Amino acid sequence: MSPKFLRMTVAAAAVLTLVGAAPATADRPVAAQTTAHHHGDDFTVVGHRGAAGYRPEHTLASYELAARMGADYVEPDLVTTKDGVLVARHEPEIGGTTDVARHPEFASRKTTKSLDGVEVTGWFTEDFTLAELKTLRAAERIPDVRQHNTIYDGRYEVPTFQEVIDLSKRLSRELHREIGIYPETKHPTFFRKQGKALEPTLVSILDKNGLNRRGAKVYVQSFEVSNLKELDPKLTVPLVQLTGATGAPFDFVDSGDPRTYADMTTASGLRDVARYADGLGPDKNQVIPRDSAGFLLSPTSLVRDAHRAGLTVHPYTFRAENSFLPADFRSSTVAAEYGDLFAEIATFRAAGIDGLFTDNSDVAIAQRDDRLARR
Ligand code: G3P
Ligand code: CA
Repeated sequence: MSPKFLRMTVAAAAVLTLVGAAPATADRPVAAQTTAHHHGDDFTVVGHRGAAGYRPEHTLASYELAARMGADYVEPDLVTTKDGVLVARHEPEIGGTTDVARHPEFASRKTTKSLDGVEVTGWFTEDFTLAELKTLRAAERIPDVRQHNTIYDGRYEVPTFQEVIDLSKRLSRELHREIGIYPETKHPTFFRKQGKALEPTLVSILDKNGLNRRGAKVYVQSFEVSNLKELDPKLTVPLVQLTGATGAPFDFVDSGDPRTYADMTTASGLRDVARYADGLGPDKNQVIPRDSAGFLLSPTSLVRDAHRAGLTVHPYTFRAENSFLPADFRSSTVAAEYGDLFAEIATFRAAGIDGLFTDNSDVAIAQRDDRLARR
């Protein structure tokens, strides 16, 4: 059991005593109960990349819309600039989410790098100072699926992590409820090898903002393992181990460790994860897999096994368009049309998840409210 989990258990016991609530149950982890009591609800909605279903992702406009839609947390993915500033982008390469290709002054920055074993050509945040990055404007990543979002192309800057925190604080005051942040360290090994480790800056920013404390509405997540283990003694907020439906953490690949995400999500593997992490962020297909035609099969034992290990479970990513939905809930064969996201969320909630990452926080909140209304 991680020292942090022990601390959370003590904190949870205190909270439960104060509110006179029922004690922890075998299939509902104490850590999750802590979160539920602290945050005032029993199901966590994370605005994935903000409100990416409605605005270009990882922009202040996207995060603000998610918060106004009711999201409990907004999720910035973090990368770094040349001068060591954490900024919100899904990956270091920014050709797909900004207008950098239209800036002739940066044409010579186009390069090819090995990103977690894959050759990627484009423009990389770590080759730009913050001042240079701020001259760019965000663009919709998937304009064919989200044509509406392209209306906003060219309007928004690439935000710094500090600006995301400032926004969450401002909106918390305005909306009279705390907007949490759920940052993800992106490609930690890739950045560390370039002498630009993300973690010290992340800890420093959380410290500076008073967010590295028990009860802060913050989760920190990563697809890699060694950086979470390194962060565990430095952060008092819960850590979330992300896993993929295939593959392995890149730090394992890089060091020759043969373990895969499949190994990490066995009952035994999850007990190991619980030594340093407090939550699991699996691909939703690890919770309920699909058959070859895209229809949902029976849920796996992942949620039960994770709960038994004391881990909360927040799978990713729930999106309204047919192209992302299981065949059960598609409305047509047109990728960009909306299907029945309400039904998908209800199905996954029945499988016992504690929350989710969604591009459509409004739908997740409406589904949660429907459920509350029926109680
Ligand atoms: O962090 C949860 C989810 O966002 C992981 O997927 O690729 O969208 O960062 P990705
Ligand atoms: Ca993410």
